[in-house]
Amino acid sequence: MVEDKLSFIKEVKRRRTFAIISHPDAGKTTLTEKFLLYGGAIRSAGSVKSRRSAKYAVSDWMEIEKQRGISVTSSVLQFEYDDFCINILDTPGHQDFSEDTYRTLMAADSAVMVIDCSKGVEDQTKKLFQVCKMRGIPIFTFINKMDRMGKDPFDLMEDIENVLGIRSCPVNWPIGSGKNFKGVYNRHENQIEVFNDGNHGQSIAETITGDLTDEKFTGLLGETLHEQLKSDIELLDIAGDNFSLEEVLNGNLTPVFFGSALTNFGVEPFLKSFLDITTPPKARASNLGDINPESTNFSGFIFKIQANMNPAHRDRIAFLRICSGKFDKGMMVNHVQKGKKVKLAQPQQFVATDRVIVDSAYPGDIIGIHDPGIFNIGDTLCEDGSKLEYADIPQFAPEHFARISTTNSLKRKQFLKGITQLSEEGAIQVYKRPNIGMEELIIGVVGVLQFEVLEYRLKNEYGVEVSKQLLPYRHIRWIANEGIDYSDLSLTMDSMLVVNKNEQPVLLFQNEWSIRHILERNEGIELKEHS
Ligand code: G4P
Repeated sequence: MVEDKLSFIKEVKRRRTFAIISHPDAGKTTLTEKFLLYGGAIRSAGSVKSRRSAKYAVSDWMEIEKQRGISVTSSVLQFEYDDFCINILDTPGHQDFSEDTYRTLMAADSAVMVIDCSKGVEDQTKKLFQVCKMRGIPIFTFINKMDRMGKDPFDLMEDIENVLGIRSCPVNWPIGSGKNFKGVYNRHENQIEVFNDGNHGQSIAETITGDLTDEKFTGLLGETLHEQLKSDIELLDIAGDNFSLEEVLNGNLTPVFFGSALTNFGVEPFLKSFLDITTPPKARASNLGDINPESTNFSGFIFKIQANMNPAHRDRIAFLRICSGKFDKGMMVNHVQKGKKVKLAQPQQFVATDRVIVDSAYPGDIIGIHDPGIFNIGDTLCEDGSKLEYADIPQFAPEHFARISTTNSLKRKQFLKGITQLSEEGAIQVYKRPNIGMEELIIGVVGVLQFEVLEYRLKNEYGVEVSKQLLPYRHIRWIANEGIDYSDLSLTMDSMLVVNKNEQPVLLFQNEWSIRHILERNEGIELKEHS
């Protein structure tokens, strides 16, 4: 028994669960693939999606992703590296991303932020970064594409600090850039790592290592680069922020790494340091206090539901983040919100391009469980009969709205089934005009791309064609006054009243100004930003 407990703790301690966030095209997919290459999960790189050659990334699932060459659904991958067991949560990087992205971050213990060195911090990164900050999760920055001419590394650090409002501390520093990108200086190890020339894109980059002052590097790098490196490091040591593990783990300081995912330069040093600095799963907040991952009582929460993910497996899968205890295939668990016992019969994990059935899993792991329609996002599953509930996963306010109806009234049933399914997955939020039937719905989404996903999935999975009219509203407010007679409300041309599935009134606005206007026109009305 003691032996069992020790090996359980060992398993927890070797888990690292993180999300990769970036603006589209910064190189997130390429970096993920290189991690898999280094971990031995794939034999050679090159299956990365390419808009031109129609090859797709290992983590792309849906057909629409392939067609558009973008990631729509967040995916999860597990692989081993050294003694670590790594779970990567991929997040859609497209600017029109969905709530799914936000929720995925709830299941991660840390985040890797990939930045294109020629672009610096871009819009999408800012939005995702805010969510990480809100949750206080540690953020690691990988400045990518150093094999191309980019901004000055000092300017990039300033950009991170100014735009994101977080302090930065380079763990490694680039030696040259563009065609002259020779390698990195590892400040933790006080060591130069110069990459051997060769075709590193598909295989692991070999390095020549040594001391900063080692004269062999003057020959390898050339005098100018070697001198430049020495003065950069001196400047960083004097003027830069000191590395503090505590500040990193509290999300106040981001360790920065430079490299090139495409050529594999700097990928392995980054992965090694990242795994070293990050922690195994930490205690999670619940209604019964913090739950220690090393507690042997199994518990976890559902953070994502996805239907019809793969045409070969037409099913609905709930993604469960394990928070404590060991999971065994077929175990009976307590579904807290439903007050029911459920058997977790066909748990799956996602390894490179495959899904595999898992026999056991540990805190930090993400497993996919078959969902016969009983799970909701945020549900807690636990082993004992306790009333443990993990903190709610916040619902994010939709920012885009459209009027959707089916073009064929004979397909109404399938239309509603599809809409219900997508709404349960959390991909869309459904409203309607008061006193109007369900033939015409108002759909709210966080990212406008979700409309395309909605149309695509209704057509391909439910055989329903829809007509869509985009609406100009950008803000949503829930009316907080209990039992208000909303037919009496005085509205403006740039607002709209809708109701949710429980007939609760909700207002949609085109701009902040119209929100203030409605508040002035309707004395006593209380508007909430969240449901
Ligand atoms: P994403 O998932 O963040 O959207 O980015 P992705 O990895 O798909 O990379 C976007 C583009 O940037 C790809 O080029 C990829 O090859 C390229 N890229 C990624 N990392 C690096 C790097 O370190 N250096 C350079 N020079 N390029 C990099 P593409 O033209 O869109 O596709 P492909 O035809 O090259 O496959």
